[in-house]
Amino acid sequence: MTASTVPVDLSVQLGRLSLPNPVLVASGTFGYAREMENIIDCTRLGGILPKTITAQPRIGNAPWRTVEVTGGLLNAIGLDNDGVDVFIDHHLPYLATIGSPIIVSVAGRTADDFVELAERVSHCVGVAAIELNLSCPNVSGGVDFGTDAKSCSKLVAAARARSAVPILAKLTPNVTSIVDVAKGAADGGADAVCLINTVLAMAIDWRKRRPMLGNAMGGMSGPAIKPIALRCVHQVRTAVNIPIIGIGGIASIDDAMQFIVAGATAFQIGTANYYDPLASMRILDALPDAIRELGAHSVREVVGTLDATKTTH
Ligand SMILES: Cc1cc2nc3c(=O)[nH]c(=O)nc-3n(C[C@H](O)[C@H](O)[C@H](O)COP(=O)(O)O)c2cc1C
Repeated sequence: MTASTVPVDLSVQLGRLSLPNPVLVASGTFGYAREMENIIDCTRLGGILPKTITAQPRIGNAPWRTVEVTGGLLNAIGLDNDGVDVFIDHHLPYLATIGSPIIVSVAGRTADDFVELAERVSHCVGVAAIELNLSCPNVSGGVDFGTDAKSCSKLVAAARARSAVPILAKLTPNVTSIVDVAKGAADGGADAVCLINTVLAMAIDWRKRRPMLGNAMGGMSGPAIKPIALRCVHQVRTAVNIPIIGIGGIASIDDAMQFIVAGATAFQIGTANYYDPLASMRILDALPDAIRELGAHSVREVVGTLDATKTTH
């Protein structure tokens, strides 16, 4: 067996959640997977996160809802979704046939909303885990639980107690200390934290003297936020003992490896799905060689191996 054919173990463990590989697709950027089935082999993904669902249908924000900016995209969709009943009756049966772990993203206005939704969805066939979206910047009250460590902790604990599957907490970078909120999530019993959701941002048409997004402000995603996400992963990894799923600007194997070395056990690909829908498959194909290049034979061995006491020069 030559060095390049030594098998690499891509499987990863996030608390109680086992995934076949660390390559996931992020909520809100992959629809409900049907849209992608003719483009990529969804069965190969380490996990699929459908668009966040809420208890009741939501029509979302007024247009424009997306604006391209240098280095990425602004969005203010406003959690447009058909509500949990349609999700369970119409989307989940298809998602469950794919064979890739389905991690359902949920959001609520109150803690009870979150917990009831998490409980209900967690008992459905085909759901591998719940991601609590504690971090949407585009709805009123959308980040309350993601900006305060105590409320985050209480909500995660309540969701964990009532959910039949592992609980992930997706956090916002729009806080003074993401470490404090991640500690809250860990104290509440989250199986992992997902870092990060979008960065609060704005685009302006100066001639009209108006904001370009219907919601005035929105969330920045894409390549420009990768350094912010890496910083968050590094900070949380060094201060909190909880598995991390890295998110933010990942579009290549180099991006993905930076997150793994920084401390992410798995990662989600978001905006890249829009402009390069094959990115997830390319990254998955390139992963074994990248792991071998570091002299390792599993993803696990490489997670969080960053030596921050030295620089590259
Ligand atoms: C158009 C759009 C819609 C999104 N909708 C959601 C959503 O419903 N729930 C959620 O948790 N994150 C949502 N996100 C955030 C992404 O899941 C991801 O956290 C963020 O875009 C950063 O990753 P990226 O730079 O790879 O896109 C959305 C992002 C975009 C661009």
